[in-house]
Amino acid sequence: MEVVICPDAAEVARLAAAKVARVARDRGPDPVIGVATGSSPVALYEQLSAMVRAGRLDLSTAHAFALDEYVGLPVGHPESYAEVIGRTVTEPLGLDPARVHVPDGAASDLEAAAAAYEQAILDAGGVDIQILGIGANGHIGFNEPTSSLASRTRIKTLTARTRFDNARFFASAGEVPTHCLTQGLGTIMAAREVLLVAQGQAKADAVAAVVEGPVTAMVPGSVLQLHQHATVIIDPDAAGALTLADYYRETYERKPAWQRYSKGI
Ligand code: F6R
Repeated sequence: MEVVICPDAAEVARLAAAKVARVARDRGPDPVIGVATGSSPVALYEQLSAMVRAGRLDLSTAHAFALDEYVGLPVGHPESYAEVIGRTVTEPLGLDPARVHVPDGAASDLEAAAAAYEQAILDAGGVDIQILGIGANGHIGFNEPTSSLASRTRIKTLTARTRFDNARFFASAGEVPTHCLTQGLGTIMAAREVLLVAQGQAKADAVAAVVEGPVTAMVPGSVLQLHQHATVIIDPDAAGALTLADYYRETYERKPAWQRYSKGI
């Protein structure tokens, strides 16, 4: 696992976008990008959008797969992840809506929808790079603590902590759905590269547990320790509980120029 501690959140977005852009260009013409919702990747998407607008990146033939979707929100609800991805990813990054996929949380048969989602990822050739945020409880996607480390896309019950954290997007906490469809940890681990971004002190304990703690279903993101190409890009606040922070900084500083993500900008 590579850990990059940036001087600030703006640099997290810049470096992470450079990494995604490099993978997208290398895997062209139709790279498959796994996208997360939530606050963490918003600035990263803005950076990618700026590259697209400047003509330095073309994602018009890329495929995108969202991590998860609430169950029980009406189609078109502004906080459904289908809508959020449309606003923050599809439109600003110039993606073809027909190539952007979000699990169908409104399906009458949720198990069939989950199986169809797994198949759609396979049909696209698998995810080249999966963008991830981290929940304060260590979840990735909506794989809450005790999720099987081998899980695939399925229905999950959200924890009270996650509903509390996501209440900021809804008029009241009671409106946050209790269930979701989420890619499993096994699904996420099948991506050829994974890129986790985190900012702020509220994520420090989760980041430390993911990077330096034991691999355990109690911290679902810790499964990324078993991934061959996992990168964690964070700001100093999110790095605040890491015991080897100096080592990660030194490692990045000593990286040869050709390996630096800024090359992709
Ligand atoms: C979003 C997702 C979640 C979030 C996590 C962090 O699709 O799957 O795992 O990445 O809850 O959310 P933010 O970034 O809002 O702190």
